[in-house]
Amino acid sequence: MGMFFSYRGRWRLKFPVATAAAIVVFAGFGMLPGERAGIEAAFAGTAGTPPQKLPPVPVPGPLAMPRSLEQVGVPVQQALAEIPSDNPQTPEKIALGEKLFFDPRLSVDDTVACASCHDPDRAFTDGRTTSVGVKGRVGQLNSPTILNALFNKKQFWDGRAKTLEDQAGFPITNPSEMGQPSLDAAAAKIAAIPEYRQAFQEVFGEAPNALNVSRALASYERTLISFNSPFDRFISGDENAVDAAAKRGWALFNTRAHCDRCHASVNMDATYFTDFDFHNIGIGIIRHNVVALARQAKRLIAKGDVPAIDKAAIQADLSVLGRFLVTRKEKDIASFKTPNLRNVLVTAPYFHDGSQETLWDAMDHYNKGDGMKNPWLDEDIQPLALTESDIDDVVAFLASLTSREYQELGVKELERQRALSRTRRPQRDTARAFGPKPTQPRPPPLH
Ligand code: HEC
Ligand code: HEC
Repeated sequence: MGMFFSYRGRWRLKFPVATAAAIVVFAGFGMLPGERAGIEAAFAGTAGTPPQKLPPVPVPGPLAMPRSLEQVGVPVQQALAEIPSDNPQTPEKIALGEKLFFDPRLSVDDTVACASCHDPDRAFTDGRTTSVGVKGRVGQLNSPTILNALFNKKQFWDGRAKTLEDQAGFPITNPSEMGQPSLDAAAAKIAAIPEYRQAFQEVFGEAPNALNVSRALASYERTLISFNSPFDRFISGDENAVDAAAKRGWALFNTRAHCDRCHASVNMDATYFTDFDFHNIGIGIIRHNVVALARQAKRLIAKGDVPAIDKAAIQADLSVLGRFLVTRKEKDIASFKTPNLRNVLVTAPYFHDGSQETLWDAMDHYNKGDGMKNPWLDEDIQPLALTESDIDDVVAFLASLTSREYQELGVKELERQRALSRTRRPQRDTARAFGPKPTQPRPPPLH
């Protein structure tokens, strides 16, 4: 645990340097959600999942602590460059952001905090298929980890927010997440709490407002850097840090399994495990009438209306359209952001809709190349002809991306997933995995 505690003093020294070098410009908060009749109409067709019981709000334990930059594998220069010049890190601001992250008073009825869906003990996810917000409302999307989110070029599965500052306002005001009428209302509620008024005065020299609440949250999130996995130690030269299966899995990842085509920014990249791009890999698309939904989206949501897109993404069947909601480009239909694979073992269930329970299920999905009936499928999705032992090897490699602080959780989780995979493999289709690539249908007209 030593790595957690050496942290605060170190940032104090390093951050001024970073601030001068950083060129990231704060994107601003011109996107306050408003009510729109058209959007409400779009939600009317949503199959209403009954409300679920809310879990207790997590309290910050050791895994909530800001992390040291001195972990094996961390791209230190890049981590520092991610700090925007108008939101420099200070220990006090980070502490304030952490307090807000765990505080349910940020929600409309004091029941949901950021940490409710991003729990440090679950590697900053919620372990659910899709998230549950105020009044037990169930959303459409799986909660991604916040660990290493500072490195994302775009935030959210569809990339509708750019910076962490930009992102923070959306869950606060989404009716199925924290349910505040506006970000100003949320900030006013925080401003009515004397301890916060004082802390904001000390950190920002002013009372809490929409902008500085977002800045404090982003500042805390930028400390959630999680590397130092067996794989990082292997790449940095410790041959014994991972076993033979994980080494075979890493080789397959970059060759016959084609994973590197999307989960690497350049070939054999061992840092981010994402190309920072968006792809349709065939998740969830068969369950929905995508063409009808795309037409509906075009009719009901004005291009670039990000608050409306936020509602559609979290609350409506339109969610399945993914990146298309943002760009309106046909090639982006049902395409989603390639997630970073670090700590993936401990962030189940998988994919934007949480539809797959284990890494074996995720592998079965790729192995068969889910191409049928999906005209927008990425060309890199195709039958892979991986054997069962190949699949076990790739899973062993993915498990080796578990950071040290989640090692114990990872051992238990791997056991759980392995046991499940021995009895249930709903995605497995060996005939298709070893068969030819199916011919893709042509896209139907959208108008
Ligand atoms: C009700 C559950 C819930 C709450 C509360 C919640 N989130 Fe999330 N969060 C999600 C889900 C679901 C997504 C994915 C949504 C999407 O991509 O459209 C997400 C996405 C994110 C992302 C983007 C990560 C990525 O890889 O793209 C960040 C950052 C984030 N949340 C931070 C926060 C912060 C900060 C708060 C509190 C202000 C918060 N979240 C509150 C469920 C929640
Ligand atoms: C064509 C690009 C592409 C290829 C090739 C690809 N992926 Fe992915 N991967 C994605 C995208 C995009 C997502 C998110 C898709 C979604 O949720 O709809 C994803 C999601 C995942 C997830 C779920 C992560 C999470 O947090 O939910 C895992 C695990 C994964 N990929 C592993 C792999 C492995 C292993 C391979 C090789 C067998 C591979 N991927 C090949 C693009 C790709």
